[in-house]
Amino acid sequence: MSGLLIGVVMLVGRGPVSRLVADLVGVGPGDRVLDVGCGPGGAVREAALSGAAVTGVDPAPLMLRLGRSLSGKRSGPGMVFLQGTAEALPVPDQTVTVAWAISSAHHWADIPAGLRELYRVLEPGGRLIIAERLTRPGARGLAAHGFTETQAAEMAAAAQSVGFAVVQHDTRRAGRRMLVTVRARRPASKPG
Ligand SMILES: C[S@@+](CC[C@H](N)C(=O)[O-])C[C@H]1O[C@@H](n2cnc3c(N)ncnc32)[C@H](O)[C@@H]1O
Repeated sequence: MSGLLIGVVMLVGRGPVSRLVADLVGVGPGDRVLDVGCGPGGAVREAALSGAAVTGVDPAPLMLRLGRSLSGKRSGPGMVFLQGTAEALPVPDQTVTVAWAISSAHHWADIPAGLRELYRVLEPGGRLIIAERLTRPGARGLAAHGFTETQAAEMAAAAQSVGFAVVQHDTRRAGRRMLVTVRARRPASKPG
């Protein structure tokens, strides 16, 4: 399958997922949102609809081109697409109020490094949500693209170990998909 086709297929059925993630995190005007592994940018555009300024980051130049062209004239100062990875975010310290990763964390080469980067770029009090398709233990191939409940629990524990607070994980439906979500907050100030 060509990269372009993969990008278009990635948008199919993702609307309910983007909306659920935006609702869970309560995104709104005044938020500065970072979408890590934004792909063709469906959730970037969802965040922009609520009045937030949004940065989509993805390592794949084709995804960034698709994101920019599908966003058309809306792509601009309030909607930016940058090349990068979760493990090396091209974003300054403490500059975003909301960060999310939708169906991207299962691709990260180094989950603790990605979580440390997310902690670095979120301002104190900033909200994080990681959403993945719920997969079955032992699944292979495409069916393994997502997290099992155990992997979601491990992600929550890893988030806590890099300093995130109020970490919770659960399973919920978005359209035809079952999702696991891990939600956390960068503490408003350092304890002690
Ligand atoms: C299944 S797509 C999901 C795209 C989009 N978030 C969505 O839900 O439609 C996974 C995306 O993660 C990106 N990705 C792969 N490795 C990554 C990494 N280390 N950090 C951030 N994103 C990564 C891929 O390029 C791809 O665009």
